[in-house]
Amino acid sequence: MSGQDGDSILAANSQELKKFICNEIAEHGGIPFDEYMHHCLYHPQYGYYVYPRQRIGSKGDFFTSSSVHRVFGRLIAVQLKQMWEVLGEKNFTIVEQGAGEGDLALDILDALAMQAPEFYAHLQYIIVEISPDNRRRQRGKLAEHGSVVSWRAFDELPEINGCFLSNELVDAFPVSVVEKRDGQLHELFVIEKDGRFVEELRVPVSSRIEQHFDKLGVAPMEDNRAELCTVASEWVENVAAKLKRGFVLTIDYGYPAQELYASFRKNGTLLCYHQHQANDNPYQNIGCQDITTHVDFTLLQQVGAQAGLRTIYFAEQYRFLIGLGFVEELVRLQAQEEDECKALALRMTLKNLIMPDGGMGETFKVLIQEKNVGDVKLQCARTLRDIPIEPLAMVDM
Ligand SMILES: C[S@@+](CC[C@H](N)C(=O)[O-])C[C@H]1O[C@@H](n2cnc3c(N)ncnc32)[C@H](O)[C@@H]1O
Repeated sequence: MSGQDGDSILAANSQELKKFICNEIAEHGGIPFDEYMHHCLYHPQYGYYVYPRQRIGSKGDFFTSSSVHRVFGRLIAVQLKQMWEVLGEKNFTIVEQGAGEGDLALDILDALAMQAPEFYAHLQYIIVEISPDNRRRQRGKLAEHGSVVSWRAFDELPEINGCFLSNELVDAFPVSVVEKRDGQLHELFVIEKDGRFVEELRVPVSSRIEQHFDKLGVAPMEDNRAELCTVASEWVENVAAKLKRGFVLTIDYGYPAQELYASFRKNGTLLCYHQHQANDNPYQNIGCQDITTHVDFTLLQQVGAQAGLRTIYFAEQYRFLIGLGFVEELVRLQAQEEDECKALALRMTLKNLIMPDGGMGETFKVLIQEKNVGDVKLQCARTLRDIPIEPLAMVDM
């Protein structure tokens, strides 16, 4: 199929999705934003994550850390191996939810097969993936690890001894959007006017939103717009219920609640990604662009604590990766590269994973929670001071 044919199919799908959402709006007299976002991303036929398309990588709409370089997955493999040693049981299950193109799974499994064959031999790697298109791509990519990998729906998971892993899953959950006006939180609804989607603020009919912020102990400021993700709360509860003994390792962009709902954040954090351009208009490119928001890490920890998950690590991605050997890996890879231009390109690529400004180093956070494990000194908690790197050789003058 030519690019033009592909484009016209996507445009036709977008029109069908718009029609479907218009019908929902007509039937219910408007729909809350979380429902609108859910249809755009996960409509069973036309949703952004459902209809076959390139989403991640240079020909898609955005990059993720696992699509930047294989080092990301290799370093996570180091942490997973230590978790296996800490649990001290032979069998270990990794559940990766929202595995995208399957890159992270592939990099972890390749690394473990090479460097930790005993762990690999006792490993079960289960992928929970909502998108049939992604499941198909993952099956192709992970064919070599067919004896270790399987796919399941979340509800079909057994009790797990091991680790629940996700990278950029929670930011893809649908959110409610609220605005505080005259001291009262209003919820954003989507209605249709003259063939266009229009926003309408409504006084909430239930106390769900108020209760969410009451529990959190933080609320949006007057005139500010903000998002809240009740799906994330339910997700943590469900993960905690499935985890018998082990860890939850969550990587995503976001902030603690105080920072997420700070007064300067007037318009919330919702962003859409289309062909590597960010925009803040979820009513265009319907079903053809990603819609995301920053994750509330206080919520994940608070709900987790109530459900039996204890936070044992929360830090920026750059600290996490450095703790696991990012610098040593960079030095090793550079030493293998004889061509100076390629070595420079490698440095520039890897820099994205740890750079604070414009990179993925600081806004991206890593949260590790444990259940029935106890105190652990995690390998990712190693600091720069502990890194055994030789200083550069001095030139004799
Ligand atoms: C932004 S992508 C991240 C992909 C991948 N983790 C990576 O690092 O490249 C979000 C992924 O989560 C999946 N997803 C979203 N909601 C999900 C859910 N409730 N259960 C399972 N997968 C989900 C999407 O289909 C997609 O694969």
